[in-house]
This record gives sequence, structure tokens and C-alpha cells, in this order.
Amino acid sequence: MTQQNPSGDPITGWWTEAVIYQIYPRSFADSDGDGIGDLPGITARLDHLVDLGVDAVWLSPFYPSPQADAGYDVSDYRDVEPLFGRLPDADKLITEAHSRGLRVIVDLVPNHTSSAHPWFAAALAAAPGSPERARYVFRDGRGPAGEQPPNDWQSVFGGPAWTRVVDPDGQPGQWYLHLFDTGQPDLNWDNPEVRTEFLDILRFWLDRGVDGFRVDVAHGLVKQADLADWREPQEILSGREEEDKPRPPMWDQDGVHEIYREWRRVLDSYPGERILVAEAWVEPAERLARYVRPDEMHQAFNFEYLLASWTAPAQYAVITRSLEATDSVGAPTTWVLSNHDVVRHASRLGLPVGTPRPNGIGIGDPQPDAALGLRRARAATLLMLALPGSAYLYQGEELGLPEHTTMPDEARQDPTWARSGHTQRGRDGCRVPIPWEADAPSYGFGPTDASWLPQPAVWAEYALDRQRDVPGSTYEMYRTALRLRREYALGRSALRWRESGDAVLIFDNGGLTVLTNFGEAPVPLPAGAEVLHSSAPLTDDGAVPTDVTVWFRA
Ligand code: NOJ
Ligand code: MG
Repeated sequence: MTQQNPSGDPITGWWTEAVIYQIYPRSFADSDGDGIGDLPGITARLDHLVDLGVDAVWLSPFYPSPQADAGYDVSDYRDVEPLFGRLPDADKLITEAHSRGLRVIVDLVPNHTSSAHPWFAAALAAAPGSPERARYVFRDGRGPAGEQPPNDWQSVFGGPAWTRVVDPDGQPGQWYLHLFDTGQPDLNWDNPEVRTEFLDILRFWLDRGVDGFRVDVAHGLVKQADLADWREPQEILSGREEEDKPRPPMWDQDGVHEIYREWRRVLDSYPGERILVAEAWVEPAERLARYVRPDEMHQAFNFEYLLASWTAPAQYAVITRSLEATDSVGAPTTWVLSNHDVVRHASRLGLPVGTPRPNGIGIGDPQPDAALGLRRARAATLLMLALPGSAYLYQGEELGLPEHTTMPDEARQDPTWARSGHTQRGRDGCRVPIPWEADAPSYGFGPTDASWLPQPAVWAEYALDRQRDVPGSTYEMYRTALRLRREYALGRSALRWRESGDAVLIFDNGGLTVLTNFGEAPVPLPAGAEVLHSSAPLTDDGAVPTDVTVWFRA
């Protein structure tokens, strides 16, 4: 399983094997003490990423926004939200990152704008059928007085996916579609004006030097033309779809691919290697692979991998399937365990194996086993970082950070919590500002105690300064892994399985052998094995204990 394009040439480029670190700007580093992370805060902490050894950063949105969905509701695509800084701060961040050899990927949110975007204000002020309304998805309601939504689609955050507007004369009017929050009206991608606008937005950031775009909800832009009823729950983050089920009319429509082909032509017209990364919750892997055909995007997040259970057969299956699917279109595979939308893997893996992925964990919920979760998270990370392809890390996972699973509900800000009628806690628990110094205010997140989400007391023991230069700390485990990954070219080598049983996985890659023990009994290493790295200490007689990954030379 090597990475080749269909003509048999090896695929090259920094992104094929890059380790890309996700920064969630609100929660990374706060320079001005207002409790909200910002761009100058990020710039001041770039050396941390160099020390860690990543290749690139991806920044979640920092554009002007009412923050109805933490910045995924953009009101101006060509500027910086004042909470996070100003446009020159973005320019400085890009320059400073580049001077350290780090690439910069920014987030692009094309499925919807904010309801505070000037286009939406114009749409509300204009009449049904006007060009202003045609940039969004406005429809008359059903029922005698149009009092029912146009179809039965549900918002991913809960509640109906339609909101009725009040016309300028004060009368109830049409409805608009929002697959997410009411503050995030969906754009109409059948409208050429929308397409042209986004080509221009791409150029705006490419001209400022960004190395690529992470494309939000890449599987959602085009809707089935008749907006037919769906009658199913509407989860973006749902598990594997059954193969024989019809595709939902709002996701993964074939029409999205033409959009990305056009974008690819724009990126290819720029010097350097600029990339497009699809956030597409699409299964099975073969459907996802269509987003990374040679003339479309470069990468797609591998959420099937993130969702796979912690068992040897499940991990073997997802790794094999992922490599096969991307090989079939000549794209590199990607791997990810955590991001700003899911329970952090140090906590997720501390729930009993087979627990459905929770949408947040709060007071009163079954609590993860923190020690077990961290042990498994470390083993999962070393397994992931030994795989060929590109890997995504989420800020704080290099510290072994758990989810904040006892956050007071009144502190929660994710619209999911309110929109689900307080049944889904949502994503705040993985978005808590991260700890840098154990004894500083806000654990060094900023110069004051302020933190937009409360930091749990356990943050002190996870702080970077408690882990740096401490042998065996999670931070040092990541650093060593990233160094060896580079040294042994693991990202661009070929994986060969040696063993894929019920309890143990073993594969070769780039001159290393990797073993993960999922079983109960310790597993001996071959005689003469030279251990280069492990996620936890071996037994006294040199065997690999339960929930441990080892990198060795046989
Ligand atoms: C996916 C983003 O990752 C998530 O945070 C956001 O809420 C939705 N897209 C809507 O933009
Ligand atoms: Mg700030």
C-alpha cells in the first residue's frame, strides 16, 4: 500500500505526509487578558509548535462573526473578528509561521454565512423571488397560510432546519434553510453569484500567503433539487451509514464535486503547493475518496478512523479500508483522533468499548475512566503517528488533555445544548482554553484569570511546564514520536501487516515495526528487538502490556 496516483507516479508534496496541528483560536492563547484566545496569542506561542515538531497549523475560523457557532457563522470572509485581532495580525501570524517553516491552513465556511452577513440582511429586506433571496434557500411554507416549514429537515444542532422570516411589513413571510443554527443560513450553490464570490474569497487568502483551506461541511453545499422530505434523524456526525440506505438529500450530493474542481484550478494557479482539505462526514470510505480524486481536493478528514472502536479487529479494518479507498484514487490517507467537534480521545477511550460516541459529557453522565482513557489515548496516538499519510492533531492532545466532563451546564455555549432541548451537551468540553503553566493565572492561557469556558482544576497537572523535559510525559511522548516519524519517513512509507488478530496488531512501516496490544495478557517482543518508543513502560521482562503501542526494530 504505497501512495501513488493512478498513472503510477508516487504522490509527492509536503501535505502527503504532514502532521497538521489544529488551533482553535478562542482557546489556544489569549494575549490581551479578555479570556478569549486571539491571533497575537497564537503568534507568541508558535515556538511551541516548532518544539513539538509539527509541519503545519490549521486555524479554525477567526473572521468577523456574531459567534453564534464559535465563528463558524461568518459575517465577513475577508477580515478578522475584533475579538481575535485585526487583519495585520493575521498577516503577521502567517509570516511568523512561515519563517519557522510552518505552513498555515485557514478554515473556509462555504455552506452558510452568518445571519449578520450583509447578503442575508439584503435578502431579508428584499421580496420573495428577488436576486437577494436567491443567494440563500428561501421557500414558501406548507399549510394553508404557509405556517409549516417547507420540508421536514432537522438542524444538526437540533430543532427544525427552517426559520420563518418576518417581512418588512411585519407579516410572517417565507422560510429559510439552516442545516445548523438559525444564525447560519445555508447559501444557494446553484447561484453563480455565490460561486464567483467564493472564488474571490479563496484568492483573497491565497494572496495573503495561506497554504490551504480546510473546507467546512464540504459534503453539504449542494442539496437535492426538490428538497424532498427525509423522515430520518439528521445527524452530521452520525455513525456508519448502511450501504443500502438512500443518501440523505442534504449531504454528499454529486454536484459538490464540480465546485471543488473549480477551486482546485484556482489553487493550482498559485505558486507553491496549496491544499484543500474536506471536512466531509461521508461514509463509506469509497464515497469519501471521491472528494480527493486527482483534480479535486488534496485531503479529506478520516472520521471513520476517529469513530472506530478500540479493538484490534475494528482498528485493523478501518486502517485497511482507509488505505485502500484513498489508494484507489491516488490520494494520501489522513488520520485524526480529536478535534473541536468531538469528545477528546483521552476521555472517549475511557468509556467502555462499544459505547456510542457521546455528543458531549456533563455532570450526571457516566464519567470516563481518566487513567484508562489516557493510557489508551497514548497507545492510539502512537499507532496513528506510525501510519503512512498525513495526521491531524488537535491542540492540547499533546498534553493528554481530557474532555472537561463536569462543566457546569450554565457555562455551556455550544448552540447544541439549547437547540437539543438540553438533551445533548454538545462540544464545549473539548474547547476549554488549554493550560501552559501550572501556577499562572488561567494556567498561562492569558495574563489574567479570565477564560471564556471554565478550566477544571486538573488542568494544573496537564500544563506544558509540568511535562516539558519530563521523561514519559505525554508531551515528550508526542515529541519523540514526531521526531522518529520524520527520521524513519513513516508518513511516506508503505505499511505491511504482520499480524492482525483479535488482541494484537503488528505492522512494518519505514524500517520500523509497530505493535499494539489490545488484549488482556502482555505480549513478548521478538528476541533482539530494539525498542525505539512506547506509549507506556514495558513489563519487567520486556513484554508489551495491555493498551500499549511499541515502535521497535526487529
Ligand atoms: C463543522 C465545524 O467543525 C463545526 O464546529 C461547525 O459547528 C459546523 N461545521 C457548522 O459550520
Ligand atoms: Mg484575547
